Amino acid sequence: MSAPNKSYDPVEVEALKPEAVERAREDALEAIAGAGDLEALHEVRIAHAGDRSPLALANREIGALPPKARADAGKRVGRARGEVNKALATRLAELEAERDERVLVEEAVDVTLPARRAPLGARHPLTTLMERIEDVFVAMGYEVAEGPEAEAEWFNFDALNIAPDHPARSEHDTFFLHAPGAGAEGAEGAADAADGPGSGVVLRTHTSPVQIRSLLDREPPVYVVCPGRVFRTDELDATHTPVFHQVELLAVDEGLTMADLRGTLDHMVGALFGADIRTRLRPNYFPFTEPSAEMDMVCYVCRGDSVGNPDRPCRTCSSEGWIELGGCGMVNPRVLTACGVDPERYSGFAFGFGIERMLMFRHNVEDMRDMVEGDVRFTRPFGTEI
Ligand code: DAH
Repeated sequence: MSAPNKSYDPVEVEALKPEAVERAREDALEAIAGAGDLEALHEVRIAHAGDRSPLALANREIGALPPKARADAGKRVGRARGEVNKALATRLAELEAERDERVLVEEAVDVTLPARRAPLGARHPLTTLMERIEDVFVAMGYEVAEGPEAEAEWFNFDALNIAPDHPARSEHDTFFLHAPGAGAEGAEGAADAADGPGSGVVLRTHTSPVQIRSLLDREPPVYVVCPGRVFRTDELDATHTPVFHQVELLAVDEGLTMADLRGTLDHMVGALFGADIRTRLRPNYFPFTEPSAEMDMVCYVCRGDSVGNPDRPCRTCSSEGWIELGGCGMVNPRVLTACGVDPERYSGFAFGFGIERMLMFRHNVEDMRDMVEGDVRFTRPFGTEI
């Protein structure tokens, strides 16, 4: 900056000559008009309106003029700067509007495009069917009870009146985990107090041992429903799987009779298959119930109409009119005694059945392998029950 003009000499200040101011103004306006984007405009602003721009420098020289000339120069420089700032603001608004418009087009979202959805998993129909059965009994006041899958032989057989030399023991195709006498320590949950010294450990072949555990854990009256996984040394094929599911039921109370068993079965079958579906009992033998029965239900599809009626065959019951469900009976007094329950005072009933089988006839599943392979094309049609 030039030194203040104290002598009032008519000093010529180059930057403030009208032509220089005019040129700076024109240069600035031309550069502003030529700025093609916001970045370029930013550079133009620094060059033509920044602290070191010709007009800013000229402004600073005003003080070097004789007082009389200052007003005129100040006016000219001020006007030029005002014009440049205004042009900058206008161009900025234009470029911003252009940018916004471009962004709107470039980043447009087509809300009509189909969304990419993460497919919802579905619970396995075995699980939902088991829970549905549990619900039927919970609604009647039963408690859900569970036991270990690795089970002491004593629970799986002995306490259920299946002694070591009992034929039923060898009929169960059992997976053995620890031989008798080897100790039950290795099997989690199986080494309970009552497993008896020398009891081997097996993968439970049925859910009936949960009856024993429930009776040992509780004082009668006992009403439990016991869902669970069971194991037998079967090859996997269309009608067998070495790992399958059962639901067991046990009621022990004063004065229970076969009529209570029958009424309970009718209620369960009604709740699962329709109110008017009845059951029937056929004599059978199980070591842990006496008397024992096989329970059937009326075919819920043909309701017996297919029997002797070749014109209307029924696939669900093979035109038998009845569907076999499982085993049942009155709890053998020897089982009550083994669990410390007085058979003179208490009686009980029990039943147990396979869930895979029920799923097969309830939903026309023809091959058990579909249930274990984990293919979502099998589970999806059952929906996403929670
Ligand atoms: N536990 C038997 C089995 O797996 C089924 C069974 C039969 C359970 C009769 C019972 C019953 O509770 O009373 O073959």
